[in-house]
Amino acid sequence: MWELSDTKTTPIYQQIMEQIITYIQDGTLQPGDRLPAERKLAQYYRVNRSTVVHSLDELVSLGWVLRRQGSGTIVNEGNWGRSTIPRVDWRSLFTQETHPKEPFLERVQELLNASESLDLYSGELPLNLIPDFRFPSYTWEELLLEERKQSPLGYRPLQQVICQRVKAEQKIDISSDQVLITSGAQQAMFLLLQVMLQSGDSVAIEDPSFLYSLPIFATAGIKLYGVKMDKEGMRIDKLEQLILTKKIKLIILNPTFQNPTGSTMSTKRRNELIELSRKYQLPIVEDEVFSEMNFSENPSSLKELAPHQVIHLGSLSKIFGSSIKIGWIVADRNLIQRLSEAKQMMDFSISVFPQVIAHTALTDPLFEENQKELVLALKQRAAAFNVAAQTVAEDWQISEIDGGIYAYFTWRHQKLTRKDWEIFLREKLLIAPAFLFSNDTMAMRVNYTRLTEQTRKHFFAKLQAISKELRRS
Ligand SMILES: Cc1ncc(COP(=O)(O)O)c(C=O)c1O
Repeated sequence: MWELSDTKTTPIYQQIMEQIITYIQDGTLQPGDRLPAERKLAQYYRVNRSTVVHSLDELVSLGWVLRRQGSGTIVNEGNWGRSTIPRVDWRSLFTQETHPKEPFLERVQELLNASESLDLYSGELPLNLIPDFRFPSYTWEELLLEERKQSPLGYRPLQQVICQRVKAEQKIDISSDQVLITSGAQQAMFLLLQVMLQSGDSVAIEDPSFLYSLPIFATAGIKLYGVKMDKEGMRIDKLEQLILTKKIKLIILNPTFQNPTGSTMSTKRRNELIELSRKYQLPIVEDEVFSEMNFSENPSSLKELAPHQVIHLGSLSKIFGSSIKIGWIVADRNLIQRLSEAKQMMDFSISVFPQVIAHTALTDPLFEENQKELVLALKQRAAAFNVAAQTVAEDWQISEIDGGIYAYFTWRHQKLTRKDWEIFLREKLLIAPAFLFSNDTMAMRVNYTRLTEQTRKHFFAKLQAISKELRRS
């Protein structure tokens, strides 16, 4: 009687619960019947006692059984419907575990709005640097007319503008049916996981990488493997080892002004990566959300070097902030078709509203000029930051900034622990420690674009004091 079928895949405690409920429902167990002792049940089911206790606790909370001091567990005596109506335990219906919350991030989120906090954690430009543009003035009727320009791949005028821009920037020949508009680069990534991967598959990413912090992979059952980087980017020897040992299905990387290191993969390394991906017939996803924030010419994109091997992702949210959550995927026509079908299952189509705004922003006559001004402003902030960074150079090795929004600081002294980074929280200096992106506890990402002349002084003065304290710890 107390046996489980070994074909079921639901958790054991749940199978035990289901069996006891079935016995109560079919009369095998009568109201008032005593269940065997926990220890006995654990022996019968051949499980730990704690598993049985877990099942019985749940059954008690649902009202199926009662626990009486000294008399063990008995089937509730026909009381349900009167005082112990069985209720739905919603938690038991969730099919996926929630992603465990990172305590450091929770503290950062709390402190973001605190008055003295300096936010160098957020991955967006400060408001005063975001290029301005005239908001379109549409009547409701005109907007509905724009709606007719929606296709399964997105709002056609926007799709075409993005296609033109990608063609010009990446120097590749594509047509607009190779461009799918998404709600940001993150949705693009999510769709790729849905279409190209299955639970249990493995993906290679850079180590450190912002992807490490995204729950979308763990939730889909995808295993991420980090590949160490050197000055030129992802190490190809390490990647090949991984491909040979872990059955890697996809390589995802952010080769230009990488999040979090701010570094850019060299042209030589890009070519080696492509050669390797050809050798093992592995597709590459190139996340290029920062590529337009460049102070000098960028190396050729991976897409340009190998148009048929590479899936290219872009986004407007790094320039315009996350209020315009518009991104895109450029890929082979057949893949775009499949991605579009997957997207339609999720959200039919993106509302025309943010797409019209994105189109207006990109076609504003001042856009190119504003874009140049933005890059100039970033360049000035980066130069001032590099100079000020000399004041802490004894304690931190700091990457030279060539574009993008991040600087990366690596601690030069003793091994730091997660606990050491709490000093930054205490001082309300909000940065992103490397352990959010890797197993590393020795470095931090700083969004330098958010610092004005005044806050820069404040930042480096505080960092000097913190470094002194860290050295003593
Ligand atoms: C490298 C990189 N790719 C993609 C994203 C997500 O972009 P989006 O806001 O367009 O979803 C981010 C956001 O932080 C990022 O840093």
